[in-house]
Amino acid sequence: MTVAFAPGRVNLIGEHTDYSGGLVLPMAIDLGTTVELNRGGSDVELRSDTEADAAVVPIDVADPTSVTPAWARYVAGVVAVTRPTAGGRGTITTTLPIGAGLSSSAALTVAVALALGFTGTPRELAVTCQAAEERASGVHGGVMDQLASAAGVEGNALLIDCSSLSITPIPIPDHVDVVVIHSGESRTLAASGYMTRRAELEAGHPQRVRHVESENERVLAFAEALTSGDLVAAGGLMVASHVSLRDDYEVSTPALDALVDRLTATRGVYGARLTGAGFGGCVVALTGPGILNEGWRVRPSAGARVARLRR
Ligand code: GLA
Repeated sequence: MTVAFAPGRVNLIGEHTDYSGGLVLPMAIDLGTTVELNRGGSDVELRSDTEADAAVVPIDVADPTSVTPAWARYVAGVVAVTRPTAGGRGTITTTLPIGAGLSSSAALTVAVALALGFTGTPRELAVTCQAAEERASGVHGGVMDQLASAAGVEGNALLIDCSSLSITPIPIPDHVDVVVIHSGESRTLAASGYMTRRAELEAGHPQRVRHVESENERVLAFAEALTSGDLVAAGGLMVASHVSLRDDYEVSTPALDALVDRLTATRGVYGARLTGAGFGGCVVALTGPGILNEGWRVRPSAGARVARLRR
């Protein structure tokens, strides 16, 4: 049996910068998805603890977007991109909230690819799973989520240059908490909004370009602030990132803004911002130890891993 685990991620700063080859600073977290698989047969058959219906995907699947149930499209995307020579039967369990902005879909594709025998480097794994997600959802996303999941380093966030995919681990100080809080708003419009923003950026829309240019500078300044232990500066950069996402990139919502305002007004919170694509979903906060009693307190964790067990 093969047991593959892939973590989710939270992005600390560097939002909507990955698909133009900019800078991002996510970390893999201590919540993730496990796939246990016995290889064989010509279908990949997986039951998930969060879904009523199993995924049954033939290894020669042609069109992942037409597979049902909908969640099985991610399995089909991996199969379509990696073309395993054999299928398998198994289970999926996850500790990640689904669709909350912690990259549950990246964790799923990375874990499935590893369980199906993918053997490349973490970068190759990330690029493969990025393509798999695109085949599954039709959304042309960046590589941040999959790369954070594939290449996480315990105790560190990852400064990633998305043009070269070079990764510099940035240690997270012990005496801070990273807390992810859901706005209560689901990200229903995220896919269409994401594609629109991406097209606007590529067309040179001045406000969208201004966000990306200023955000890339904030990522570097944030990495320096974390490295020198200046948490007040780091928190200020997170708030500036949120303001830029709200006003220039226009991917925030009143619920996300209100949550960021409430958190940043809380004593002991260094900064907060929307995290992920926006249009609902989660906020990430950097705080002193034990300041917030809500959301998920996440720890910077190692990347995806696989074990083959003899049974
Ligand atoms: C989603 C995408 C990422 C990235 C973020 C925005 O999470 O999957 O590639 O573009 O949105 O920063």
